[in-house]
Amino acid sequence: MEYRDYEIMLSAVREKTDFKPETAIILGSGLGALADETDTKAIVNYNEIPDFPVSTVQGHKGRFVFGYIYKVPVVIMQGRVHYYEGYSMEKATLPIRLMKMMGAEKLILTNAAGGINFDFKCGDLMLISDHISAFVPNPLIGRNIDEFGPRFPDMSDIYNKEIREKVKKIAKENNINLKEGVYAQLTGPSYESPAEIKMLRATGADAVGMSTVCEAIVANHCGFKVCGISCISNMASGVTENPLDHKEVQECADRIAPVFKKLIKEITKNI
Ligand code: HPA
Repeated sequence: MEYRDYEIMLSAVREKTDFKPETAIILGSGLGALADETDTKAIVNYNEIPDFPVSTVQGHKGRFVFGYIYKVPVVIMQGRVHYYEGYSMEKATLPIRLMKMMGAEKLILTNAAGGINFDFKCGDLMLISDHISAFVPNPLIGRNIDEFGPRFPDMSDIYNKEIREKVKKIAKENNINLKEGVYAQLTGPSYESPAEIKMLRATGADAVGMSTVCEAIVANHCGFKVCGISCISNMASGVTENPLDHKEVQECADRIAPVFKKLIKEITKNI
């Protein structure tokens, strides 16, 4: 894709709304309810934007919600697409660049993830301190688009340290039990095997999922300040005896939704 393609997408959004967000938020599987509590000013469905990737997974909505959370102008992605759906990494991460072009400077990435760290349990929230991208193709492969960022972008502070400190303080003040750790992205769609989870633990990963890392790379490249929150929706394969099931992942996300929503709203207000 060329910069021009992104400009065409931006014009399609601008035909519907001129809303200028400060913060962009991506809501992961089962975590979409936050958008219902936003003082909504405009909605743009992904299928109204030319070339925009649309999710094929049940339970994933596909729209941008523009509005205010505690007076902060936000754009919320209710639903994202994943690499396992067959989209290229470039296409799966294109919404990040589009939200930057809309005016957003900060990005809150959220996901449902499998817990690898033995200290975690289903329903925990984890602040992402760093990530492992080595198991998926890099989304910046291909000709660099200089308008977005440099060919070889630095990745030494992907999940902005200043924001992380603020988030930990926010969690404490609101009595929210917040873990912290490293998130690894694998392609999916199959869940991991117990041996793969052992391998990931040995590499330093605390949680595993099928999103977020590629988005965080593209976001850093184009200058976003990034914050990442994982909802531990299940313990990863082999940690417990139970087989993994997408329904269980969604049910767990539903249970933790109120605390998750509170945390994201407070983060939005305070970063
Ligand atoms: N593995 C990968 N992705 C996931 C998991 C998991 O255990 N849970 C939620 N998303």
